[in-house]
Amino acid sequence: MALYKLALLAAAAAFAQAEPATNVRRDAPSGSAAWVAAHSSAAAALAKMSQQDKVNIVTGVGWNKGPCVGNTPAISSVNYPQLCLQDGPLGVRYASSATAFTPGIQAASTWDISLMRQRGEYMGAEAKGTGVHVLLGPVAGPLGKIPNGGRNWEGFGVDPYLTGIAMAHTIEGMQSSGVQAVAKHFIANEQELNRDSMSSNIDDRTMHELYLWPFADAVHSNVASAMCSYNKLNGSWACESDKGLNGLLKTELGFRGYVMSDWDAQHTTTGSANNGMDMTMPGSDYNGGTILWGPQLNTAVNNNQVSTARLNDMAQRILAAWYLLGQNAAGYPSINLNANVQGNHKDNVRAVARDGIVLLQNDGLLPLKKPAKIALVGSAAVVNPSGMNSCNDRGCNNGALGMGWGSGAVNYPYFVAPYDALKTRTQTDGATLTLYSSDGTSGVASAVTGADIAIVVITADSGEGYITVEGNMGDRQNLDPWHNGNQLVQAVAAANKNTIVVVHSVGPVILETILATPGVRAVVWAGLPSQENGNALVDVLYGLVSPSGKLVYTIAKQAADYGTKLVSGDDSFTEGLYVDYRHFDNAKITPRYEFGFGLSYTNFTYSGLTTLMTATAGPATGATVPGGAADLWDTVGAVTATITNSGGVTGAEVAQLYLTLPASAPATPPKQLRGFAKLSLAPGASGTATFTLRKRDLSYWDSARQQWVVPAGTFGLSVGASSRDIRLTGSFQVGSGGTVSSTTSTSKTSTPTSSTKLSTSTTSKASTSSTTTSSTTTPPTTTSTRTSSTTSTTSASSGGCTAARWAQCAGIGYTGCTTCAAPYTCQYGNDWYSQCL
Ligand SMILES: *[C@@H]1O[C@H](CO)[C@@H](O)[C@H](O)[C@H]1NC(C)=O
Ligand SMILES: *[C@@H]1O[C@H](CO)[C@@H](O)[C@H](O)[C@H]1NC(C)=O
Repeated sequence: MALYKLALLAAAAAFAQAEPATNVRRDAPSGSAAWVAAHSSAAAALAKMSQQDKVNIVTGVGWNKGPCVGNTPAISSVNYPQLCLQDGPLGVRYASSATAFTPGIQAASTWDISLMRQRGEYMGAEAKGTGVHVLLGPVAGPLGKIPNGGRNWEGFGVDPYLTGIAMAHTIEGMQSSGVQAVAKHFIANEQELNRDSMSSNIDDRTMHELYLWPFADAVHSNVASAMCSYNKLNGSWACESDKGLNGLLKTELGFRGYVMSDWDAQHTTTGSANNGMDMTMPGSDYNGGTILWGPQLNTAVNNNQVSTARLNDMAQRILAAWYLLGQNAAGYPSINLNANVQGNHKDNVRAVARDGIVLLQNDGLLPLKKPAKIALVGSAAVVNPSGMNSCNDRGCNNGALGMGWGSGAVNYPYFVAPYDALKTRTQTDGATLTLYSSDGTSGVASAVTGADIAIVVITADSGEGYITVEGNMGDRQNLDPWHNGNQLVQAVAAANKNTIVVVHSVGPVILETILATPGVRAVVWAGLPSQENGNALVDVLYGLVSPSGKLVYTIAKQAADYGTKLVSGDDSFTEGLYVDYRHFDNAKITPRYEFGFGLSYTNFTYSGLTTLMTATAGPATGATVPGGAADLWDTVGAVTATITNSGGVTGAEVAQLYLTLPASAPATPPKQLRGFAKLSLAPGASGTATFTLRKRDLSYWDSARQQWVVPAGTFGLSVGASSRDIRLTGSFQVGSGGTVSSTTSTSKTSTPTSSTKLSTSTTSKASTSSTTTSSTTTPPTTTSTRTSSTTSTTSASSGGCTAARWAQCAGIGYTGCTTCAAPYTCQYGNDWYSQCL
């Protein structure tokens, strides 16, 4: 049987076996059933609690009155501990011997869900190891619609689909380690400027399709808690928005955990209680003077301003999350933020830091071929001379950059700067390394003249608004490199024609000046690599691995091209759905580097698009499960493509699927990300990228009906190496009669645009893993298929897995195939990954 037929069969088998969302096995406790059990235990405990106990469990002890950033008192009647809530989204804040994980934005840039999941697992394990019950992350808001928004780096980039997948895997990873995850900040807190006074006024459809979308993933992954944000929604505080908390989160998404306030984001006693907030943090204002719950809540309940039922609901939700994570079991570690919990977790930091590096430009200079003389330039080449943790909450941009600043930052246990790692490498090679660790241009020429290679490191930083760094009050003032980075690059390149620019940045930087500078031969977008900064960079510069990160935001030619900016009053989100590439595509603006872009040291070709759909037009009408209507999460099709490494070295490709909605849908961005797969391929090897589509992936939000609707008509499919480097296109029909009429696809002969500048030299010692090896001559596909639950699951075995599972696992970069035990299938991208390890 031809391999392409096998692949089709496999895909059919995989989704015929797809289980209802409530039965999906996950590593974290999951699905409605887990919450039912947890709530039943919680209800039993609640019955033993006094009203005072209930008030206590929902009220933090006050700022700076406990060992953690948030604490609630122990409730002895039910053996409930003093709960420890601790920042943050990249590890345990204020710990002395915990790992400084990579920021979310770097994890997203890898597009590698196994690394995201492992990062979550490790963060959860470290939180538990330090006695933290609730780790305050991950972040899906801000989404990042404003490119200079101060906290964008804490989240997973500006695409809701990618952010949603990253949220799901991070949360499941964290909770599999026994710690409660918190999806934050709910919702629409897109800038630091005026965050605690402004109102975000978002139309209903945009709310659903962009900002709420990743929170649905979080709820579907049974996140224990959600944190309401500082801003207002349509004029009501987010922490007392009936529509936001009771409507969207608890009713529509079926969230069964608890809502905690962001720190000091509560404004009233009864408004917050009656509109859906369940826990106040830290329990007082920062002076300790104002306490809105505690005794006030007791009084409000006694006066019937807040019902006992509502108080019970708050307390039961908090207890249920504790039971959900099994934190009631004996032996939960006691709080010790000094515990050494690092284990081997730095391996994940290095892998994420490295695989999140995006190669933007390369005329063949990279990978380095053992140059004899290297000059390294920039203040960001070395560890902060005052000490790696010398600035409170990383609130400065001195020395090498690993993360932004604010409550979402942690202490570094160690820091390897570019200079440290390059020193080690050049010593091994017997090469010379000259350092010029300043951003002043006066001494540059003498430092770099005569070197074989000049590497200049520049930065852009941002953070949370309570700290101002070099005039930036959280949000960045502009999209330029800091410390006169443009001038520094110009000075280096003027004196050395083999200049490599390394950018460590929280988000997009306008690179036009740098790209126009003669002598700049490569631009390495190294993101935010945390403690493994230098090691990750050297891995890529020397070709130990081929770069495989892709941008999770657009880099524009000028700031105005984004069409969004910080607002000084309320924000009415007039750009609607048109943020980042959705806007650039719609407005036909050519970016400098588009969303999803990234070069490699090898080349990939795309072929053999296959499509197998069972979607029917119409609304999702299923019962509400965590995450929304149950059928939204049903698999309704799969698209596959064959990716071949046609270059000279092993590398990994992130293949991306973008969907275009049919004409019957309301106006929608021209294409939207709805799948991705990262495949590691040896030279000459091929693999199958499998994009499993859920009903929600085909749907738009119909505000009039208040439902997600799959529109009827022709859907466009674009599969490619970025949002603009589309290699395969196809389409499929969805009819209202309930069947797919036909599927066709055509492939465009790819003329790699910027990837043609790549070097062919140098070999890599990186692992030569390959995925599915398939025929290179895949026939064009025309299928008309309606699968049913009787579809045969028989398929070839290989290495102990059925081909179906093999294809699924291979499609997400899995490179071996041994233990996919029946009856498991691989769900959307990919609940079953752990089964494949
Ligand atoms: C805000 O107002 C808009 C317009 O009336 C409405 O569509 C949306 O649902 C409201 N959102 C919230 C959170 O109140
Ligand atoms: C990638 O393909 C381009 C165009 O075919 C070619 O010029 C280049 O040498 C290739 N690079 C590698 C690393 O194979």
